[in-house]
Amino acid sequence: MVRGRKIEIVSFLLLQIVVAATAANVTYDHRALVIDGKRKILISGSIHYPRSTPEMWPDLIQKSKDGGLDVIETYVFWNGHEPEKNKYNFEGRYDLVKFVKLVAKAGLYVHLRIGPYACAEWNYGGFPVWLHFIPGIKFRTDNEPFKAEMQRFTAKIVDLMKQEKLYASQGGPIILSQIENEYGNVDSSYGAAGKSYMKWSASMALSLDTGVPWNMCQQGDAPDPIINTCNGFYCDQFTPNSNNKPKMWTENWSGWFLGFGDPTPYRPVEDLAFAVAIFYQRSGTFQNYYMYHGGTNFERTSGGPLISTSYDYDAPIDEYGLVRQPKWGHLRDLHKAIKLCEDALLATDPTVTSLGSNLVASVYKTSSGSCAAFLANIGTESDATVTFNGNSYHLPAWSISILPDCKNVAFNTAKINAATESTTFARQAIKPNADSSEELGSQWSYIKEPIGISKADAFLKPGLLEQINTTADKSDYLWYSLRVDIKGDETFLDEGSKAVLHIQSIGQVVYAFINGKLTGSGNGKQKISLDIPINLVTGKNTIDLLSVTVGLANYGAFFDLVGAGITGPVSLKSAKSGSSIDLSSQQWTYQVGLKGEDTDLGSGDSSEWVSKSPLPTMQPLIWYKTTFDAPSGSDPVAIDFTGTGKGIAWVNGQSIGRYWPTSIARNDGCTDSCNYRGSYSANKCLKNCGNPSQTLYHVPRSWIKPSGNTLVLLEEMGGDPTKISFATKQTGSSLCLTVSQSHPAPVGLWTSDSKILNKTSPVLLLKCPVSTHVITSIEFASFGTPKGTCCSFSHGRCNSPRSLSVVRKACVGSRSCKVEVSTRVFGDPCRDLVKSLAVEASCS
Ligand code: GAL
Repeated sequence: MVRGRKIEIVSFLLLQIVVAATAANVTYDHRALVIDGKRKILISGSIHYPRSTPEMWPDLIQKSKDGGLDVIETYVFWNGHEPEKNKYNFEGRYDLVKFVKLVAKAGLYVHLRIGPYACAEWNYGGFPVWLHFIPGIKFRTDNEPFKAEMQRFTAKIVDLMKQEKLYASQGGPIILSQIENEYGNVDSSYGAAGKSYMKWSASMALSLDTGVPWNMCQQGDAPDPIINTCNGFYCDQFTPNSNNKPKMWTENWSGWFLGFGDPTPYRPVEDLAFAVAIFYQRSGTFQNYYMYHGGTNFERTSGGPLISTSYDYDAPIDEYGLVRQPKWGHLRDLHKAIKLCEDALLATDPTVTSLGSNLVASVYKTSSGSCAAFLANIGTESDATVTFNGNSYHLPAWSISILPDCKNVAFNTAKINAATESTTFARQAIKPNADSSEELGSQWSYIKEPIGISKADAFLKPGLLEQINTTADKSDYLWYSLRVDIKGDETFLDEGSKAVLHIQSIGQVVYAFINGKLTGSGNGKQKISLDIPINLVTGKNTIDLLSVTVGLANYGAFFDLVGAGITGPVSLKSAKSGSSIDLSSQQWTYQVGLKGEDTDLGSGDSSEWVSKSPLPTMQPLIWYKTTFDAPSGSDPVAIDFTGTGKGIAWVNGQSIGRYWPTSIARNDGCTDSCNYRGSYSANKCLKNCGNPSQTLYHVPRSWIKPSGNTLVLLEEMGGDPTKISFATKQTGSSLCLTVSQSHPAPVGLWTSDSKILNKTSPVLLLKCPVSTHVITSIEFASFGTPKGTCCSFSHGRCNSPRSLSVVRKACVGSRSCKVEVSTRVFGDPCRDLVKSLAVEASCS
């Protein structure tokens, strides 16, 4: 303990020292941000600090730095920092100061997007829900109560950053701040008041005097000196609203977010690299990957409706903090290539020439003789061979070549030199020692959540209430409960045929209990319409409807007002006679939240847990609890919730978020191999159709002790908790890569002496990602015309018989190896063809 404390103090002091660096002067001109009088080419990536843990931050930041980033961009999450008005939280995952200092310690800059509207697939776009209850408030428009709160919070954050000397003007890492977020996408809906609000936001921000520039994204009319920046899958066509402002890209979507019920989006790295390269080719000087690490929507932080708990985003660093290959590596190479051009890029504007249809050369040539060129083939169909400065270059369709000396190609966006590293999930039982299902069941205890009204604070109200106004989002759950008296002669008894309960909700999940039994359910983003056949009895009947939100809306004009819950109508119909009664305006009883939430069952601490066997399963509304030992090893941990229905889970009292493995991805639009050529959109490349959208849920290692951990589940719809298991994510037991004779040499081999370059042929580089591993075998090697993709290669017509032996000799037994991709090494198995070397290797 004492030692740990010492280390803490020392590292705290170190942070202070690093942060006490000298002040930097940040300005801008028409080409770039200018730091201490020097223009900068900046490569940035978003990491949202509450989507991981402080224990993960140093590693995520280091992997960002190793990937070639200069800047970390993050939003500031108002609802996390001020969960109740004037009660602030800057601890744990919300320790913003610590996060910014860690970025500084790694030597990187920060772009702080204060907003305070974030969007970000974050609950209510980052606004605290209490804001909604301030009398007379209207969000994001010229409204005094709103502006007062926005200014108070923005000033609070700026003051905090100043106090800690975190602005570059004070020697800190923050070189840029953002006010609002993409307001220009929606401002027309707010009319003239929207315009005046936008201008007010700008001058309010400027008045806070941070000493560094401010930006507004997607705001074409951002007033001077605020820089208007671009968001999108491509921003090469963007121009800022003044000749004095640099061309900046604040959100380059590296993938896309996942929703419950949706297939999983992915963005091929060849296209992402193309988008980045063409942006710098066309005079951009700052771009940010949104996300570089997406992370996890813990607790109830996910936005909505129906945003999943995973916020992986197909980002270069995956949800668990592991690099995603070859995405991370290919982008790292791209960043190196761009940086090799930095002097020329920053010194001048480009000269653009056409090399043919869809073929463009942009040349940055300085008076002092340095020269960098970008050659683009923006065609989507055919590769091209172009002549530039008297030399010939092969340009695959939808690709950019980067020539840092206007002669040699250091990088082509479509030719990947970074190996694909396999990742696998290793299964581990939660209860490794239980071998029968009874034994498994006996290791769980449970508490039944009452169906319907059980809390003293329940209340009566005529009519159907909108949910967010009723719960203030204190809970996902709202009970709507009604007693109906059925007289013996009523038609709803419908002997033989059933009565039908009709329910309409604006989202997101409804469970209908009739006389204590779950009789029907449904879910939807904005509209749920259910017709549930039910059996009523003579006398009293209870209708208990449980309405559940899954993340509050975060995007669009007036998103704060979309609402949720069973807003009706609710009616009873006789299937036989067709007559119906509307129950909507009856006197309903309401209960906000569940009893077990009030008694904090998630902590696992209650004395009410029941350990009787058999364990009740496949029944709605049961709290489950068990204890477990940490899964062995140090790999990141997930829980596979397959076997359960839907609910919320806690590990040692920390909510790991909503789980919903029974939410199945719609079965259309998926492709196994998505063609990266041509414009990307969020629906273009999808996988996992027809499967559960999310079965695996991240449990940060730092939340788990070696033994005696508590896991609590609140199961809503019915499931079997004994079926869940751990999955630990492992990286890199197999590597694969194809390098052709037309690939550039790995950019890592570049030095400023271009003579060395001329002699370098393409090289296939392999390296086991785990430092203690070596390459133990070569599963496949073929120099010729190998077929297939990583990792399912096969021989093509042409194959050098030496392939396997050459690669084995070079690689087996070492952690890393280099093989020249040339006929000099392999002989020529097929003259006149461009050959490739495909290799699959195993590490252990
Ligand atoms: C943008 C928004 C981000 C995020 C993104 C989609 O429009 O600014 O916050 O929501 O879309 O992931």
